[in-house]
Amino acid sequence: MRKPIIFGNWKMNKTNAQAQVFFDGVEAFVTDKADFGVAVPFTALATSVNAASKMNVAAENVHWAPNGAYTGEVSVEMLKEIGVKWVVLGHSERRQYFNETDADINKKAVVTIENGITPIVCVGETLDEFEAGNTESVVRTQVSGCLTGLNGEDVKNIVIAYEPVWAIGTGKSATVEIAQNTCALVRDEVRNIFGNDVADAVRIQYGGSVKPDNIEEYMSQEDIDGALIGGASLEVDSFKAIIDAIK
Ligand code: PGA
Repeated sequence: MRKPIIFGNWKMNKTNAQAQVFFDGVEAFVTDKADFGVAVPFTALATSVNAASKMNVAAENVHWAPNGAYTGEVSVEMLKEIGVKWVVLGHSERRQYFNETDADINKKAVVTIENGITPIVCVGETLDEFEAGNTESVVRTQVSGCLTGLNGEDVKNIVIAYEPVWAIGTGKSATVEIAQNTCALVRDEVRNIFGNDVADAVRIQYGGSVKPDNIEEYMSQEDIDGALIGGASLEVDSFKAIIDAIK
């Protein structure tokens, strides 16, 4: 049985003070029905790690180099030092606005795993790709490109988030059928590369306008093991409602 994994993604939202308010409001309600967590901006990481006890805390990005002349970047060692154990890699906003490629994401995945930080690797097609019927080829290419060269035993422990770009922040969530089918093909691509054991173990999230009132439907699907949640992870009440929905 794969344990459900529900992460929020704050994106470029919340100061340290606001992060503290969130954890103060949410922590008491966290259950063991899932691995619950939230991805937070770099500046709020240390506060969040200290404030979280049952919640997990992820960074939203990391650089692949151990150190050096990369102005504005943050290394894995810097995350480790403050107790960060998770990182979101290759979110579509990183791909779209900062030109991240599968090759970049792959380098980041390698270095995070080597350092004991678990990546949540994001994949997903754009609206144009969806309308052109290219979802399958795009997503398979992203999965193989991001995970190439990784060790199967390591891949068992990572998380892959399928987030159709057209569903992110738009309120237009993918139908349960689309979400399930695409998560199934993500798992199938993992099966092609790493075999049955890895494919059966790896946890796959759906993301894109997940809310308290639709999360149960997604979670009832065979290949959907969790959710990556933007907007609905920002408020204490909506995150509490998400926690309540995971029975
Ligand atoms: P959303 O964002 O839930 O606001 O659509 C999801 C994400 O970007 O991870």
